[in-house]
Amino acid sequence: MLRSVVTGVGGYLPEEVVTNHDLAKIVDTTDAWIVERTGIRQRHRAAPGQAVSDLALIAAQRALQAAGRTPVDVDMIIVGTTTPDLTFPAVATILQRKLGAPQGIAFDIQAVCSGFVYALSTADGFVARGRSRCALVIGAETMTRLMDWTDRGTCVLFGDGAGAVVLEPGQGEGTTADRGLLGFALCADGGKQDLLYVDGGVSTDGKVGKLRMQGNQVFRHAVVNISEAVRAAAADAGVEVSEVDWFIPHQANQRILEGVARRLGIDEKKVISTVAEHANTSAASIPLALDQGLRDGRIKPGQLLLLEAMGGGLTWGACVLRL
Ligand code: COA
Repeated sequence: MLRSVVTGVGGYLPEEVVTNHDLAKIVDTTDAWIVERTGIRQRHRAAPGQAVSDLALIAAQRALQAAGRTPVDVDMIIVGTTTPDLTFPAVATILQRKLGAPQGIAFDIQAVCSGFVYALSTADGFVARGRSRCALVIGAETMTRLMDWTDRGTCVLFGDGAGAVVLEPGQGEGTTADRGLLGFALCADGGKQDLLYVDGGVSTDGKVGKLRMQGNQVFRHAVVNISEAVRAAAADAGVEVSEVDWFIPHQANQRILEGVARRLGIDEKKVISTVAEHANTSAASIPLALDQGLRDGRIKPGQLLLLEAMGGGLTWGACVLRL
């Protein structure tokens, strides 16, 4: 059977680093409060004029290079993003042009912080059916553009960045020893919209809007929902949670990462955490954490990975893959 195999990973973080101390100069907060409640120490911010497609471009080029592919090989681009360059066209088609990829299909997925797990699971429907031979799956965000810089409850939490993977079909035996995406679980509950949303949009007030969040409620749902998605994705893949080599969570808050690990009995040493340096980069956070784990040598080919996320919607989900 065909499997969707990750053959290359790349990430990009904008140059500017904003520390907690920098934010303490504009809102009533402290480095100590932010570190204690979230684990975040700094975040990256895109430069004026740097659009989300610019971040995605560098991540995509790095992923293609890691896979030994060129833009000419790419036949599908899916970008998980909630902060597109323009209302339309999709970031994926803008990226197709910037990348110089002459063929294929391209579209965005809007599932906020779950964007990457939604995009990866969607791509599997093409790659594992032989409909795409070289897919770019990307999470890219400029979340700092959605911040209300007077709201200390949200503006300290988010950052900008992009991460990309190349997915190619690979022949598997239909066992959990196969390389590739082995299973996933996706969920949504539109009834919880008020907990996390942006208060503007094209067909309402015509504005971009600002991010609004009931942080403690989101926190509570995150631990429960993510844990359920992890169990469901593991069951879909036919593996035990205890077999997983690395958990690569959406990086929202160190306490959420620890809460999920405790609930599932996961050794915290098996959790890749980038939240201190990257903060919450929404759909970009999982591929950025994967890239980090690969580059520092912790994650190795052949290992079993579990990716998980929850975001606005609410949406949540998890994917199990063997690298
Ligand atoms: N600095 C100092 N104080 C802050 C603050 C900040 N940056 N942000 C909020 N506070 C204050 C609040 O105003 C409140 O003060 P009050 O008691 O005087 O009203 C107090 O801290 C407690 O607020 P609360 O929201 O209950 O704190 P918390 O322990 O839940 O921590 C979050 C707040 C936002 C850090 C936490 O809820 C969280 O991380 N939630 C998940 C958010 C998330 O990850 N969302 C994205 C999911 S994709």
